[in-house]
Amino acid sequence: MNKVKTKNRSAEIEALIREMTLEEKAALCGGDGHWHTNAIKRLGLDRAMMTDGPHGLRKVVQADGKTVQVPAACFPTASALAASWNPDVLAAAAGAIADEARAEGVSMVLGPGVNMKRSPLCGRNFEYFSEDPYLAGKLASAYIQAMQSKGVGSCIKHFACNNQETRRFTVSANVRERALRELYLPAFELAIKAAKPAAVMESYNRINGTHVSESKWLLTDILRGEWGYEGMVVSDWEAVNDRPASLLAGLDLEMPDSFGDGRTRIIEAVKDGHISEETLNTAVRRILNFIFAYAPDKDAAPRDPEKSYAAALRCARECMVLLKNDGMLPLAKGSPLAVIGGAKTMRYQSSGSSKVTGSPKNDALAAIERENGLPATYVSFEEGAEAAVKAARHCGRALLFLGLPESFEAEGADRRHMRLPDTQLEIAKAVALAVPDCAVVLTCGAPVELPFAEAVRSILLTYLCGDAAAEALAELLFGRQNPSGKLAESFPLSLSDTPAFLNFPGDGDECDYAEDIYIGYRYYEKRGVPVRYPFGHGLSYTSFAYRDLTVSGTAVRFTVKNTGPCDGFETTQVYAGQNTPKRALPVKALCGFQKLFLKAGEEKEVEIELSLRPLEYWDARERRYILPDGSWTVYVGASSADIRLRGALEIKGDAPGAKPVDRNTLLCDIMREECYAPVREIFAGAMLSNTDFAKLCGEYGCTEQNPALRPRLGFALRQAVYFNPEFSETVLQRTICACNERLFGHVKEDV
Ligand code: BGC
Repeated sequence: MNKVKTKNRSAEIEALIREMTLEEKAALCGGDGHWHTNAIKRLGLDRAMMTDGPHGLRKVVQADGKTVQVPAACFPTASALAASWNPDVLAAAAGAIADEARAEGVSMVLGPGVNMKRSPLCGRNFEYFSEDPYLAGKLASAYIQAMQSKGVGSCIKHFACNNQETRRFTVSANVRERALRELYLPAFELAIKAAKPAAVMESYNRINGTHVSESKWLLTDILRGEWGYEGMVVSDWEAVNDRPASLLAGLDLEMPDSFGDGRTRIIEAVKDGHISEETLNTAVRRILNFIFAYAPDKDAAPRDPEKSYAAALRCARECMVLLKNDGMLPLAKGSPLAVIGGAKTMRYQSSGSSKVTGSPKNDALAAIERENGLPATYVSFEEGAEAAVKAARHCGRALLFLGLPESFEAEGADRRHMRLPDTQLEIAKAVALAVPDCAVVLTCGAPVELPFAEAVRSILLTYLCGDAAAEALAELLFGRQNPSGKLAESFPLSLSDTPAFLNFPGDGDECDYAEDIYIGYRYYEKRGVPVRYPFGHGLSYTSFAYRDLTVSGTAVRFTVKNTGPCDGFETTQVYAGQNTPKRALPVKALCGFQKLFLKAGEEKEVEIELSLRPLEYWDARERRYILPDGSWTVYVGASSADIRLRGALEIKGDAPGAKPVDRNTLLCDIMREECYAPVREIFAGAMLSNTDFAKLCGEYGCTEQNPALRPRLGFALRQAVYFNPEFSETVLQRTICACNERLFGHVKEDV
């Protein structure tokens, strides 16, 4: 019965709620087993199925008494998809996954994951997009829209601050609201507002001491109150700490089934008046809405593995990142080649709830031999450095397959270091010393230290690129396709350079986000810490020239020309930073991007509308975002560090309002903040005439030139009494009252 015409849906739902008993309502707010909502047979309501996600369908079924996963296509994981910087690639992956979900009668896919990459060590970084919230939010929106346009719900996760796996069920992300609002929430906000995902999955961890599953502030006040979200909130699996408390906070569906425990506790709480039936009805209504909106289509086309593979290949081609190339790539065809390391079974996904039963064509060795037209001389890591050097010398050129083993990066555990396994490093060093023509294929889901980077000629990062990884790789290595991926995260030189180094994974259950608003490139740029490869970096076999930047309002226009020998994609990136910020702000932030395809010699004008939100800061006192006004620089480039054009942007922002003046108001704030301009003359006027203090106010203009006066601006108003015996407490109070009267039209009591 789950198919209901949209027009009648809400009436049907209300009728159903009226029919439901308390027990049925409570049951609907929990799972049936691991992957279903509860059916209510009496009322003809079927159960709905949800499965992981996010880079392929992980549908778990029982067959012959065993738990098995149905075959499904595996797409590049999130860190790879993000490196495409192409919403169309995200849409292609999500659309194809949705087709498979429909074929399998699945109502919702548990993804995408948009958590920020606070540290490269987080074990699930391969499942997350970026260190930049704007990029992550844009890509997630494309994924969700594409999936839902095919009638399959998407569940954005893990809301919020699930930035590590260590003690993930209990750890408290101790984070300032400003960092939450500027880094950890905006990707969710952007995607939730733009794409309206069917569900939001709350995260395991606590935030500032409160379990997210019980945070009314996050699940109701912000998510629904501020962002207007109307869909369903689902728990991460086994995340619920206290079911009645979570229901009151706004968590609608508890997953999986807690063997009736959650249900019983809800029933008790309603009976004893702790939870009103209306609150329960609200959760039930949202769950029913989801069930009806994404009811499976019995006539859906069956799974088409070839079509899915073609989509996976199309995606994989755009996800690999050429990190370094001094001309060895693309490889010349038809010459001997030594292939060393993990080429026969390339890693293409990782472990945990996202692991799908794919049909990988992951024999990169075979794909390379096909493309080269010659058998390669292959040496495995087990054969050791000597054999590898011998093969490399014999062939005159070598391709080294390095990367993280699956046990290094997986759900449920963080990495402890950023190194590749020692054997790999030894072999890389020996081969790079033995032959000058040595290129590296790097396969991992997150950044690693690359001590051999200077010694090799080229490095191609494949990330974990799904079923078609090997084929896409071979095409890119031999130049049949042109690499176009760019990093959606910085590649630091070493772990100790990273922003959260001192506070990851925290001290027991307390993890202090002491790096605050500075993660990723925001941190490296602010501190001037050199990185191996910056955010946004990625090379191509062709080259691009940028020119003619104009900035008019928030419209940024410039021209890009393909000046090299072959066709290719370029991802143009727009950042902006305030020239002389009064607040702590990053040097610049990404606020627009566009990937475009240019034939050799072709040029195009690019127009990008700047998004202002990444430029705003969260003002804790006013509890709102503020766009700082003044002069800004717009940076247009091929990466965050490869800036090709600069333009000026004047922002007429909305400065924070004045707060009431009191005895601890600083003189420098009065003199510098625009909002206090109307009261400045009070200080220079008769009330304080002849005092040093008044003189100092008048002299403010010269303090910029006269450093000796500068420290005095740091005084609070109450300290005026130290400057002049005539400046009594009474004068101070009168001054404060006069200020507040002028600012707010009334005298604020209790100053
Ligand atoms: C993971 C989620 C996943 C869920 C269901 C949890 O452990 O954190 O990402 O969707 O399991 O498998």
